[in-house]
Amino acid sequence: MRAWILSALSLVCCTVHASAQRSSAPAGSSASPGLPRLWEFKPEVLGKNLFFDTSLSTPAGQSCGSCHAPSTGFKFPDSHVNSGFGVAVGVIPDRFTNRATPTVSYAQFVPDGPPSAHFTSSRMIRPLTELLFTGGLFWDGRAIDLENQATFPFQNPNEMNNLVHNLPEPGLVVRSVANGPSSPMFRRVYGEDIFSQPVDVVFGKICEAIALYEKSEEVSPFTSKFDAYQYGRARLSADEFDGLRLFTGTTDGTTAGPPYRKNAQCVQCHGIEDNIHDGKSPFTFWCYVNLGVPKNRNNPYYTQTDSRSNPVGYNPLGANYIDLGLGDYLYPLNGLPPGNMGPGSDGFGDYLQINGAFRTPTLRNVDMRPSPSFVKAYMHNGVFKSLKEVVHFYNTRNLTTFPGEVIDFTQHDPYAHLRGEPLWPPPEVQSPVSMINPDGVPSADGGQVGNLGLTDEEEDHIVAFLKTLTDGFAPADHQH
Ligand code: HEC
Ligand code: HEC
Repeated sequence: MRAWILSALSLVCCTVHASAQRSSAPAGSSASPGLPRLWEFKPEVLGKNLFFDTSLSTPAGQSCGSCHAPSTGFKFPDSHVNSGFGVAVGVIPDRFTNRATPTVSYAQFVPDGPPSAHFTSSRMIRPLTELLFTGGLFWDGRAIDLENQATFPFQNPNEMNNLVHNLPEPGLVVRSVANGPSSPMFRRVYGEDIFSQPVDVVFGKICEAIALYEKSEEVSPFTSKFDAYQYGRARLSADEFDGLRLFTGTTDGTTAGPPYRKNAQCVQCHGIEDNIHDGKSPFTFWCYVNLGVPKNRNNPYYTQTDSRSNPVGYNPLGANYIDLGLGDYLYPLNGLPPGNMGPGSDGFGDYLQINGAFRTPTLRNVDMRPSPSFVKAYMHNGVFKSLKEVVHFYNTRNLTTFPGEVIDFTQHDPYAHLRGEPLWPPPEVQSPVSMINPDGVPSADGGQVGNLGLTDEEEDHIVAFLKTLTDGFAPADHQH
């Protein structure tokens, strides 16, 4: 029953062209005719200023960059919040997002939403039941593209909170830009009379400029040690190279090489390009997968239940909230209830096999942090606090303290009759239908998740390899 999903995944992942092709230079609206295109009038420079403009929240104080900071690879920049809560804090201090902050770098390469079950560049269009979804921004793909995505945080009560009488009010953002430090540059880029245009038009330009910054080389520079290695300008250490070989499961660290002694299967979802001439490696196929990640019990969103203080952003389900990911977005989009469960469902359950599925993130800059002791939160809910923990989870999700015992999540009660204690709390969405490799049994491919058979040292080597994906590598500094 599971075999076809695994093979579908391998097939999909091997067939799709992985490369992150750079989009052409930002089209952008040009400056007034006759004026030289000075660097300071470039739309992406304007967009950068807006991205870091803390006057664009209500009250003022939070910018996009407050949650997506360059020093952490555009993830959340507060180590205490990351280690404690795992999710982000909004401009109103006691409000939290339900999910962890993903990186903005390399987000420009995410295929446009809504998530679709066929690849636009692919030869393969498969029947719905065999498909893996891909594309769309946010962990659940609900934003179409970067321009559309930028409209959300401005109007989210748990983020930048530009609302009036509980309704989104983009006019607040427009007014702040018109009266703020970026106003002259904004007029230079979009025309002197831009602020006399309708609010929606100006708001659209604000989001467009931010997206142009997000698409700039500064945000996705491809300057990691791994890139230098692929260009032949750097050598990986023995540990890093072993990590790459485990990551790809091949002796030469390419996806097509001869089999290595073990295969951690990472490349099945975090795809790479073998040859730099075919494009740069995005470290994701942008496919949606339910990994069986546990609940983050410290997520303060569970206690954010007060509808009076936060009528739009409160959590009506309290501690019972379960994040169904793609299933929360795609079923309502098709006129069915979230998760296709409960009243109004079509009776076919999770027929798209998407409950608990989240978009595979890029692994670029996954280790970027301002200091070695800085804690980053990983996965859609921020439950994991280190790369070692993430890799150990992939390695042992299905194991217990009893040697050789493997939990089978296809069983009605997978925890019945276990002889040992499970090593991990139960999956947030425990589903034999959507979970990848739920029985944890090694398949012909080695089994993708849950029981990889890696030693502690091999886990460390994979982590060492992940650290080579941090941008800003200077080959001269690393000759050893
Ligand atoms: C309060 C913290 C916070 C602020 C402020 C914030 N974000 Fe985010 N951002 C998040 C979180 C949390 C998510 C994931 C939400 C989800 O998936 O449901 C996210 C997701 C994103 C994504 C999607 C990335 C991907 O891989 O799909 C982009 C792009 C992004 N934010 C850009 C922005 C921009 C642009 C702004 C400013 C207009 C902004 N963010 C403001 C916390 C924040
Ligand atoms: C079957 C597909 C799949 C495989 C195989 C896979 N991943 Fe992932 N990876 C994902 C998905 C999906 C997520 C996000 C899951 C979530 O948040 O619930 C993720 C998240 C991560 C994250 C967290 C990133 C962040 O910003 O929060 C890291 C690190 C990671 N994977 C590394 C690896 C490594 C290392 C391997 C191999 C040992 C691997 N992955 C194998 C699909 C996969």
